[in-house]
Amino acid sequence: MDQNVLKLAAAQAAIAYVPIDTIIGVGSGSTVNFFIAELAKIAHRIKAAVSSSDASTALLRQANIEVTTLNDAGPLSVYVDGADEITPQLAMIKGGGAALTREKIIAAASDKFVCIADQSKLVDVLGTFPLPVEVIPMARSYVARELVKLGGHPAWRMKDDKAIVTDNGNWILDVHGLLISDPIELESWINQIAGVVSNGLFARRGADIALLASTDGVKTLTCTAVPQGTSNRIVTETR
Ligand code: 5RP
Repeated sequence: MDQNVLKLAAAQAAIAYVPIDTIIGVGSGSTVNFFIAELAKIAHRIKAAVSSSDASTALLRQANIEVTTLNDAGPLSVYVDGADEITPQLAMIKGGGAALTREKIIAAASDKFVCIADQSKLVDVLGTFPLPVEVIPMARSYVARELVKLGGHPAWRMKDDKAIVTDNGNWILDVHGLLISDPIELESWINQIAGVVSNGLFARRGADIALLASTDGVKTLTCTAVPQGTSNRIVTETR
């Protein structure tokens, strides 16, 4: 089945998690683009959105959805975003679109994180998708050496021989070759390297709900309330 059909199905399922008359967080990427299109149909039902990237902001505005800042919005009811990989425990790798830092901030400020993806993103162990790490430009080479010590093979993200610059003015290292058995620990470890702005592991604050679309329909994985950052998250599956 066409991947876009699955992305659309996951995006449509997420609309049920958008509370009336609240400000919601909106992520970035091709699956979220479908979600923004669905959100446009119920734009009158929400107050505004906080956006995780300039690209999503432009789409939200085109859809006549007011975009506000996180500072003005306060705590958000829900955050809807995609993932590059997600485990059955709802830990994720994100940042394929270089928006990881703002995504992580909005996820942290939201009561509920709803991850939308097609089922191909579900993996037992994170790391086949290279882990994005946003770095302050002057620290790129130092951070890369530290990531090699962790067993990774960092590559400086470029396009047409030019460094990809994030919405925050920083650079991205994509770390290949990691088999991430303890994502909570690795997330914290990488964050401590001087010059790292954030990394694409979303494990301390994983998703609360994953809506995973396949040819059999949209599967819902729900994480029961346990303190964020604990590894013994209990996930139930419904379809
Ligand atoms: C952007 C992200 C995206 O959520 C992630 O890359 C998934 O994107 P897509 O829906 O296009 O597969 O983290 O920084």
